[in-house]
Amino acid sequence: MPSVVDFNDRLLSLGLARVSEAAAIASARLIGRGNEKAADQAAVDAMRTQLNLLDIRGTVVIGEGERDEAPMLYIGEEVGTGQGPEVDIALDPLEGTTLTAKDMPNALAVIAMAPRGTLLHAPDVYMEKLAIGPGYAEGVVTLDMDPAERVRQLARAKGGTAEDITVCILERPRHEALIAAVRSTGAAIRLITDGDVAGVIHCAEAEVTGIDMYMGSGGAPEGVLAASALKCMGGQIFGQLLFRNDDERGRAVRAGISDMNRIYTRDEMVTADVIFAATGVTDGSILRGLKREVGWVTTETVLMRSKTGSVRRMTYRTPVK
Ligand code: FBP
Repeated sequence: MPSVVDFNDRLLSLGLARVSEAAAIASARLIGRGNEKAADQAAVDAMRTQLNLLDIRGTVVIGEGERDEAPMLYIGEEVGTGQGPEVDIALDPLEGTTLTAKDMPNALAVIAMAPRGTLLHAPDVYMEKLAIGPGYAEGVVTLDMDPAERVRQLARAKGGTAEDITVCILERPRHEALIAAVRSTGAAIRLITDGDVAGVIHCAEAEVTGIDMYMGSGGAPEGVLAASALKCMGGQIFGQLLFRNDDERGRAVRAGISDMNRIYTRDEMVTADVIFAATGVTDGSILRGLKREVGWVTTETVLMRSKTGSVRRMTYRTPVK
């Protein structure tokens, strides 16, 4: 498939923003209420309703799970009016369910759309991820390097020392050795409790967020969403699927993956142009969260197109019941 495909992306992008706005708004009343499931369900319902208004022949390739485990927005579900371009959809109606339930920073409603057959059908397994922002030579850091080497190489490319580098990592016991290796270089680490789509996007705006590099394992579906965002904003991301058992390898096989050790680059996860929208649910360093006043809600959305490299930030205020 050629990398420049017209899928009506210019017009559809505004519709995509409405989809992520609707998902975020639906979760508004559930922020800080300690109920992850309810928050997620509200976002899923709203995202699906709004998505089905778009003139697309869409297939969910990154969704809420496999068909037998997710009643809505499952992988393979067809969405849209059935008229218009054939597209792949990657979505996460609530990226950071725990962040939302606990009212912690950087929960997002996220969606990406690309021509049919151009988004990696990543199974619901873990992915080892490495990401940096734009402006660096291709391959300045790679997944093949050990973590300390990545820090040193990036510091050299940035024109500084390891102490000038900040790495974002999910705080998990499985990352203890990674954290120790990065700390041994003198680099700073911003630990996050959840939300690695936002974690990766931070790298694309290093001057604003202070984060130069993202490292560690998280959801593979989130990896494709993050790759979509970086394809629009610039920056590099590498991902390698991680399997803990045969069930997970089976998921990959069903998703059409044969090389289980492959390291995917950004453009191998997203092979053509993509449009991406994210709406802030809770306040974060990329987007402001939902603001509620009596009878009203205000959202902030970032809407991007890789074809043009445009990054649009939109504020939307609407009455709510
Ligand atoms: P959910 O919103 O689905 O809970 O995902 C949050 C998240 O932190 C993702 O951003 C990340 O990729 C994944 O969970 C990490 O998984 P785990 O919590 O198992 O380490």
